[in-house]
Amino acid sequence: MKKSVVVLGTQWGDEGKGKIVDLLTEGADAVVRYQGGHNAGHTLIINEQKTVLHLIPSGILRDGVKCYIGNGVVIEPEALIKEITNLEASGVDVQSRLYISKSAPVIMPYHIKLDQLREQKKGKEAIGTTGRGIGPAYEDKVARRGIRIGDLLDADLLKNKLEKVLEYHNFVIANYHQSEPLDFEEVYAKALQQADFIKGMCVDVTGALHQHLEDDEKLLMEGAQGSLLDIDHGTYPFVTSSNTTAGSAATGSGLGATHIDYVLGITKAYTTRVGSGPFPTELFDEDGAELAKRGVEFGATTGRPRRCGWLDLVALKRAVQVNGVTGLCVTKLDVLDTFATIKACTSYGDDAFPGSAHEWAQVKPEYQSFEGWQSSTRGLTDLNELPPQAKAFVDFIEAFTGAPVHIISTGPDRCENILIEDPMG
Ligand code: GDP
Ligand code: IMO
Ligand code: MG
Repeated sequence: MKKSVVVLGTQWGDEGKGKIVDLLTEGADAVVRYQGGHNAGHTLIINEQKTVLHLIPSGILRDGVKCYIGNGVVIEPEALIKEITNLEASGVDVQSRLYISKSAPVIMPYHIKLDQLREQKKGKEAIGTTGRGIGPAYEDKVARRGIRIGDLLDADLLKNKLEKVLEYHNFVIANYHQSEPLDFEEVYAKALQQADFIKGMCVDVTGALHQHLEDDEKLLMEGAQGSLLDIDHGTYPFVTSSNTTAGSAATGSGLGATHIDYVLGITKAYTTRVGSGPFPTELFDEDGAELAKRGVEFGATTGRPRRCGWLDLVALKRAVQVNGVTGLCVTKLDVLDTFATIKACTSYGDDAFPGSAHEWAQVKPEYQSFEGWQSSTRGLTDLNELPPQAKAFVDFIEAFTGAPVHIISTGPDRCENILIEDPMG
């Protein structure tokens, strides 16, 4: 029996993680987010009703499922409070089921300001971040000067830490960026107010997760972003500031590596990317426009149009390796329904996987072509109903990557899936 299952993205994010986590919560007792922050946008569609989650785990729409935000997540209290308030206004009970790690770093107003100032300064070379303060918050964590959720709960400790860290960042804001420094009293008062709202939800998340395992309960671990945005394994420097690969599920929640029973890698049947950086299979033609239109490819967090291209099997194979993927879930297969010919990249023209910006720029993708099925797969739930051409495409993904496809997603709604093998066992 599988007790803890990691669900993560194998591309540049937006693979459909939220939808699949929500689907799998039917067999889970708890869901934990373990990295990233509100740069994530996870879309859930249930009976045509759409909910976009940013920080709150995608288990919140399933009654009785406990939701945890682990130590590896960077938390912006205002964004969190807004998300809780909005969900509660639509009738979802959040505060009795949401638990927040006291060890999680806080995204403070100066992180957001620094993120935006740096992007402006970079001009054409900007990373295209979500502007949510993610990078600067993770930097403060690693620099050992960060404010953690637990610090918010102790007014004197917070005052002391904030005075020092704000002095440091204000120096950079004023002198390096020539921008307006932040006011200590304002930042401090706001943080205390936010602490008051969230204090009842702050717990020892690691301890609670181990209790679930001891009680023989099932955990889902929800990744954010995707493997090619990983700070070590992605298209550096055009990446996010956390490890998005499977190891983070352990370090970002306090579970051990041996507690992970299964890793589900989510991949679109094609590829998208928001923001700047290498994207070998990107399309600038009618096919790209068709993918964007049929896939409704706009970012769930920033609303920016997503860049679109063919499936990149070289990158997917690498993602299968670095995550130790047990099974794959191919999403948005239905988006390919109209294409006469479908392509997938099977070589970068070089044996070595790119390890630097320079090498990524040298990539010359080579493609394998597949006959399109040109009929609707939208909403299919039975593998036997899949057109033979679609089945051949999925079989090729398995053969190339060496990972079995356990789920095929055929539409955005919770019920639009072909479940070949249930990762929850
Ligand atoms: P996440 O960040 O990985 O959770 O993915 P996003 O929610 O940012 O983006 C995925 C988008 O694709 C959302 O709009 C989903 O509603 C949608 N989606 C997910 N699975 C499918 C699918 O199988 N078919 C179609 N047509 N849309 C899907
Ligand atoms: P989900 O969880 C897609 C991208 C940004 C930018 C880079 C760095 O919905 O898949 P950051 O704000 O993290 O410093 O930005 O990472 N990015 C995402 N792209 N989906 C996401 O999350 C993303 N989170 C960050 O666009 O290129
Ligand atoms: Mg998303």
